[in-house]
Amino acid sequence: MPRMDKKILAIYYTQSGQMAEIIDSFTSPLIDAGASVEKAVIRPVVDYNFPWTGKRFFSVMPSCVLGIPEPLAPLGLKEKSYDLIILGYQPWFLSPSIPSNSLLHNEEFKALLKDTPVITISAARNMWINAFVRVRKMLNDAGAKLVGNIALFDKHPNPVSFVTIFYWMLSGKKERYLNIFPKPGVAEADIARCEGFGQTVVQHLKNNSWNGLQDDLLKQKAVEINYKLMFIEARAKPIFAVWAKIISKRKNQTPWLSAFKYYLFIALFLGAPVLLTLDAVFLKPFSSKRIKAKKLSYSQIINS
Ligand SMILES: Cc1cc2nc3c(=O)[nH]c(=O)nc-3n(C[C@H](O)[C@H](O)[C@H](O)COP(=O)(O)O)c2cc1C
Repeated sequence: MPRMDKKILAIYYTQSGQMAEIIDSFTSPLIDAGASVEKAVIRPVVDYNFPWTGKRFFSVMPSCVLGIPEPLAPLGLKEKSYDLIILGYQPWFLSPSIPSNSLLHNEEFKALLKDTPVITISAARNMWINAFVRVRKMLNDAGAKLVGNIALFDKHPNPVSFVTIFYWMLSGKKERYLNIFPKPGVAEADIARCEGFGQTVVQHLKNNSWNGLQDDLLKQKAVEINYKLMFIEARAKPIFAVWAKIISKRKNQTPWLSAFKYYLFIALFLGAPVLLTLDAVFLKPFSSKRIKAKKLSYSQIINS
């Protein structure tokens, strides 16, 4: 096969290794096509230990939501410019994870982003929309050209993945909790599906055109928007912002973070079903146009 003369950077953060698997699957067709793919991992100067303790897990909430960047180790990249940058990130508290947000504030990286095509891949529990909107805006502000987005998530029911992600995050094991619950995180089949998305990207690289890439990815279901999750996330976003502002101003944050933790449990298991029922009766039947427009705006790569 003739070598494809393209320089690609795949940069990402991961704690469990899940995003590394996703990047490997997605980039394998690019490598097979002969492109040069440089993989780089985001390294915070003070990294977040994995697995988490419950206390540390909630302690990062204010900085995540308020988007406060942390120092990163030098990126140590080989090239001064790339034909394509692939950015793999994960949402933390409905916001870009602190390491990903820090990268998007990093001057060296921002210089690379300018006028460069970018494909974003997120791997969430199941609420990724707000983080994506923020990443999309930061990329736009840096002058990058977002050409594609892939949103991977755990497809199990919301309360189930809530339980299993805590087991995963606090034990470090991506395994079945008590042998009763399903495996946490992005399903192996969905990680394998990323190879197909990579093949689509190869076609666009060969044609030297990014036009229609996102539409092609959407046909492959690279982004699927679940109405109920979109609804819950939209309600939770401003509430998280209020909690983050209040907690960040406290000298002793511990009792406040603990209160937020209880709020989160109650909101998910009690508040969300009540709100969803009210919405199903009073709002949703009359909002089909607005819902359609929202879903479209989140599947697209254009800032709206
Ligand atoms: C502190 C923290 C907060 C998280 N908050 C969210 C969230 O708001 N929405 C979501 O869908 N997933 C959330 N997750 C799950 C991550 O998006 C991600 O799927 C998981 O951490 C695995 O990523 P990894 O590749 O870094 O191991 C959170 C994870 C952590 C550690």
